[in-house]
Amino acid sequence: MEKALRLDKLLADTGRWSRKEARALIRQGRLTVDGAVLRQPELRVDPTAALAVDGEPICWSRYVYLMMNKPAGVLTATEDRHAPTVLDLVPEALRRPGLSPVGRLDKDTTGLLLLTDDGALNHALLSLKRHVDKVYLAHIDGTVSQGDVDIFRTGLTLEDGTACLSAELEGLGPGLCRVTLREGKFHQVKRMLACRGLPVQSLQRVSMGPLVLDETLPEGAARPLKSEEVTALVACTER
Ligand code: URA
Repeated sequence: MEKALRLDKLLADTGRWSRKEARALIRQGRLTVDGAVLRQPELRVDPTAALAVDGEPICWSRYVYLMMNKPAGVLTATEDRHAPTVLDLVPEALRRPGLSPVGRLDKDTTGLLLLTDDGALNHALLSLKRHVDKVYLAHIDGTVSQGDVDIFRTGLTLEDGTACLSAELEGLGPGLCRVTLREGKFHQVKRMLACRGLPVQSLQRVSMGPLVLDETLPEGAARPLKSEEVTALVACTER
């Protein structure tokens, strides 16, 4: 059994309400626990009990999992003295001790970034053994050739001698391509494309394993993952 938690904390942990909002709605009698209305926010219950607000079932999770649409100009770090970080963009209600980005995007790269305080999942998703695919859209100078596609598939060696795993490259017409990587070396997409004479003008990550960037999420915004998204992520680390 999970450790009993205060009702207001349980609701705030979902990221949908602040502690203050949670206390108010509990006092209004909108929360049920195993079918019974409980009106005291300080009451402690088993978090795996059946919770519902206004009749809608609420899923409590020990950890928070956030999808962010990272904008350009923000560092993938938890703190920095000189530049804004992705943690600065997380709304107060969604912040938790230990919340960290899973992997890194360059300062000028935009798109899908996962943040969590689940250290085990963070580690598993970055582990090379598991090879979680990451898909990027790149605006480039030039057009992808069949030779570029073939060499990405075989495994490109960068100019400094770094060997890359096999990767998918797909030309999407002049100036645009899609790259799928199974690893995450420093500036990897930019370096691989530059090596083929295709300098990157802008880069966006659109998916990571089963997680796809939510197109309705504005740049700079973050939202909690849906329970099916968390389940799919966990499943892909258990393959
Ligand atoms: N590859 C890059 O070059 N930059 C990123 O931000 C991510 C992958």
